[in-house]
Amino acid sequence: MRQDTLITASDITMKVPIINLSLDDETIDQVVNVLKSGMWAESKNVHKLEKEFANYIGVKNARAVNSGTAAILCGLHALGIKRGDEVLVPSFSFIASANAVLNFGAKPIFVDVDRETFNMSVDDIPSKINERTKAIMPVHLYGLPAAMDSLEEIAEKHDLAIIEDACQAHGAMYHGKRCGSLGDIGTFSLYPTKNMFCGGEGGLITTDDDQLHERAKLYSNHGQSAKYIHSTVGFNFRMQDSNAVIARQSLDTLDSRNQKRQANASYYTESLGEITDIETPLVPDGLTHVYHQYTLKVQKRDALAKHLREHQIGFGIHYGIPIHQQQSMIDAGLSTKLPITEQLAREVISLPIHSHLEQRQLEHVTSTIKQFYM
Ligand SMILES: Cc1ncc(COP(=O)(O)O)c(C=O)c1O
Repeated sequence: MRQDTLITASDITMKVPIINLSLDDETIDQVVNVLKSGMWAESKNVHKLEKEFANYIGVKNARAVNSGTAAILCGLHALGIKRGDEVLVPSFSFIASANAVLNFGAKPIFVDVDRETFNMSVDDIPSKINERTKAIMPVHLYGLPAAMDSLEEIAEKHDLAIIEDACQAHGAMYHGKRCGSLGDIGTFSLYPTKNMFCGGEGGLITTDDDQLHERAKLYSNHGQSAKYIHSTVGFNFRMQDSNAVIARQSLDTLDSRNQKRQANASYYTESLGEITDIETPLVPDGLTHVYHQYTLKVQKRDALAKHLREHQIGFGIHYGIPIHQQQSMIDAGLSTKLPITEQLAREVISLPIHSHLEQRQLEHVTSTIKQFYM
């Protein structure tokens, strides 16, 4: 089954599309102004975005980069991850976190997930820690924060760093604190379908630690401490200024769009909760889910998917092949057994949840699903 990492025409043309990408005229005018000004590379909008995002997340520092993957790479570099180190990552996620670890010659160690929350299973961690383990990279999957208190306890006990993959969790809260402020360093994606976006590819790194920030920032800019003065190695992961214009606008409207996602989720959960085959998403007390995805667990997943497609309803399978079962990971000698992850891969289906959905579209989704189970 197709994975929707890249946007296709049918993703936007269905009766109820899985995504809806649009920009208001004022933002487009601001982008045009940046293009007219000639300030095409990193400039004042990037710097304003960094300040505004750090302020929103509740940390001292943010660095804007050109993808979530770049943000994770900068985060791992800042933490000093190197060849031979091991980093604990979930396999039930997008592959970027595991790929980034491999890029440093380090080894991603796949941890199973909790069936109810889809997030890293704290119980599966202790047996995977050894003297090579250097960090835990929890993913706040679908926009629900991972079990950070327990993860922090483990990290402290074993002297491990925590790098949050908050690429799906812009604005999500864990007991009053935002994702991206909970570990040593936080990483975000601004890919077009994310809750916060930038009109192309983009990412952000957040941290309270000035040294980690400095290391991440240098790495994102070829290690340049001043023009053509390179104090460390690095890459060009810089964000272009026109993308920062869109990201800033998207940050301004993030909370209200997240609230609409939450209202859509409540509607689905109320309407579909009583169908025996369906398990709706669970939100533990004290956590705020921002529903990057609204994902059901169902036994008849593939038949339901076919039914939705026939009724012009977009859906996503996040994720049909766990990372540890991808050919690239098998070839890297990383195949393992993760029973819950493997079962979820057969059961999950995500419904359209974006903030542009109209009531009639939500009703079309729920009545179509009810019809399937009649
Ligand atoms: C959980 C997770 N991690 C990392 C990434 C990588 O972000 P990007 O696609 O911006 O590189 C994504 C984006 O798809 C993601 O969903």
